[in-house]
Amino acid sequence: MSILQKLNYYLKKSNEYKSSFWIDRLDNERYLDTKKFLGFGSFTKNNFISNFLHKILQKKIYGNEIFKSEEYRKYKNFFKKQNRLINIDNIQHIYFFRKINENIKHKINSACVIGDGKINFLSGMLSIYPEAKIYSINLSEVLIHDYLILKKYNILKDENISVVEKVEDLKKTNIKLFLIPPDNAHLLKDYNIDLFVNFSSFQEMKFSDIKNYFDIIKSNKSYLYTCNRYHKILPAGEILKFADYPWGNGSKIFFEKCEWITKYYSFKYPFFYDYDGDHWHCLISYK
Ligand SMILES: C[S@@+](CC[C@H](N)C(=O)[O-])C[C@H]1O[C@@H](n2cnc3c(N)ncnc32)[C@H](O)[C@@H]1O
Repeated sequence: MSILQKLNYYLKKSNEYKSSFWIDRLDNERYLDTKKFLGFGSFTKNNFISNFLHKILQKKIYGNEIFKSEEYRKYKNFFKKQNRLINIDNIQHIYFFRKINENIKHKINSACVIGDGKINFLSGMLSIYPEAKIYSINLSEVLIHDYLILKKYNILKDENISVVEKVEDLKKTNIKLFLIPPDNAHLLKDYNIDLFVNFSSFQEMKFSDIKNYFDIIKSNKSYLYTCNRYHKILPAGEILKFADYPWGNGSKIFFEKCEWITKYYSFKYPFFYDYDGDHWHCLISYK
């Protein structure tokens, strides 16, 4: 079976893992269109004028320093193949990779992202940690969408990607990227993955799923980096609070308001806007 056939099989179960927020948004086949903005990360095509405008607005918010970083350079080079410019979502990921570099001094051999989108996180892993294995857990619609982007830009070959359906799939050699529908996330229990990452994603999930993911993370004795809205109310009234995630007794390396997600820009006057609420982020070690 092809990768797409395997991922398609999980579509019919996907609704079980959607909060009211995602039921609203992923309710038809739009996820097959890689050009659309669908609420799970953005992809901005590169052209001279757009690049110029983004850069000016970004510099107003972030200053100059981030643009000189190694992580910025690596994202930029990696995006060339996608004819993609670095937008605000990507800048936030670049800050994340810098923070990880500062705080985790040993080599990262494996990382698992829960809730990527538009290969925002994958692009950073592939360019900044090119030797690491990557595990991506997501709703199958978004796994398909991200897979289509990887194929469109010839980023990874099929023989280096595996859809995880059973333990044996995790043991296959030559696999760079493991795609994992939520049904099979439990296969990552006790798997010794170095780092788990979750950006703007627990904030829109069912609490039962968040709890399951924390059980998996803790069983890996891993690091967890997560950055989410401090407080968010979903369409059906579910309330997600950063402080209430099932943190357990991992040691907090930092746990604080995220200083790089306070303002965003748009090309419409007055150009700069505050996010709806504070974002908090933390790095926890469950080692
Ligand atoms: C707002 S998007 C964040 C995209 C990306 N992390 C970023 O910051 O650019 C939230 C992501 O969480 C994913 N998601 C929602 N429910 C999920 C679940 N139960 N398990 C895994 N991922 C889920 C969505 O499919 C989506 O990719």
